Amino acid sequence: MVDVKKMFDPALMSYKPPKSTPYAGWGAPGAIKLGSGVPDPQYYPWKLIATLAEEALEKDYQRILSYGMPQGFPELRAWIAEHSEKNDVEIDPGQVLLCDGSTEAMSLVAKLLLQPGDAMVMESPSYSGAVSVFQTCGAHVEQIPLDEEGIDIVLLEEYAKKRQNEEKPLKLAYIMPNYHNPLGTTTSVKRRKELVELAEKYEFLILEDDAYIEFIYEGKRLPSIQSFDTKGLVIYTSTFSKPLAPGLRLAWITASPEITMALTRVKGAFNMSASHLGQAIALAYCKEGHMYEHIEKMNKVYKKKKDLMLSALEEYMPEYVTWTKPSGGFFLWVEIEEGKIDGIELIQETKADVSYRPGDSFYIEEGEGLNKLRLCFTFETEENIEKGVKILAEGIKKLAK
Ligand SMILES: Cc1ncc(COP(=O)(O)O)c(C=O)c1O
Repeated sequence: MVDVKKMFDPALMSYKPPKSTPYAGWGAPGAIKLGSGVPDPQYYPWKLIATLAEEALEKDYQRILSYGMPQGFPELRAWIAEHSEKNDVEIDPGQVLLCDGSTEAMSLVAKLLLQPGDAMVMESPSYSGAVSVFQTCGAHVEQIPLDEEGIDIVLLEEYAKKRQNEEKPLKLAYIMPNYHNPLGTTTSVKRRKELVELAEKYEFLILEDDAYIEFIYEGKRLPSIQSFDTKGLVIYTSTFSKPLAPGLRLAWITASPEITMALTRVKGAFNMSASHLGQAIALAYCKEGHMYEHIEKMNKVYKKKKDLMLSALEEYMPEYVTWTKPSGGFFLWVEIEEGKIDGIELIQETKADVSYRPGDSFYIEEGEGLNKLRLCFTFETEENIEKGVKILAEGIKKLAK
């Protein structure tokens, strides 16, 4: 027998999935799903997508069904450049790269920048998908806690300073400034500026992941981190997964011309280009105004669900449980007083009836965060949101020590 495992990339093989993974799974069939960060499936604009696809193919099937440029459709890049003005950013369509989801954006950035042992930081906790992308490329990933304004800037500076004298200085900071996954919190404008100042001082890049920016329920849109960057140190990504559909696998990157060109080369070498059909659908969806209409509609639906989840938590949770109160996005973060419950036991107790995302998925340190959990309020029906929170609260009370 040939031991094929010996041939696998050691960085990939050294990645350990979170401790909760074998217990949590994706939820039992029939269980209420408060786990994954998915839009409400009842509202996928599938009929519109079918019409837009048909119209686009009728007009332009030879281009859509063929190979094309790695950077993506110029018209869609032009729309994204204009849309970026909402983030107080002025860019040229040449600074936009279309890719297969923001997950691919992270992989492209990792491929471009990170060799095994290279240093990067992310928030603690941070998006589980990013934890696995960056860990599987063999980078040295340091997690830095957040305070009320965002990533702790003092700790970040200490780390950047410490790495300055090492063989591998800090190269990248991965940050989610708006409606953070899993916390639901937002980074202050002051902290956004400080981040850019630090990146300039210590010469590292920032990957700004803005997956939830369109889903604002209270307050106003803040200028992006990229808007404060005058030196081309911020790489920005956002996605069509939430305002259109995750199954289309389409997202974008905006960056300096130099970085965009380098990432386009990586994209071209990896998989040629993002799907043309997806790009054609997204182009019509955006240009004909459907995207902003859909967002406006969904924000009413999601705000109601978010408020309902907050009321259910208030009603059912015991006093040793706390949670964040997001003003946008898809998630909130629940913390059970340390030592009160065994996180794995809670999964086993509630798994048949309700699924949620165990907190350890958002940390690198094995087993960290098992007294915490992420709840998504966008996917389930209003009735199930209330039921799910009630079941979870009953499970917590039953197991509490
Ligand atoms: C913060 C964040 N970034 C990126 C992604 C992945 O997005 P995509 O579907 O575009 O790969 C998600 C998905 O949940 C996310 O929450």
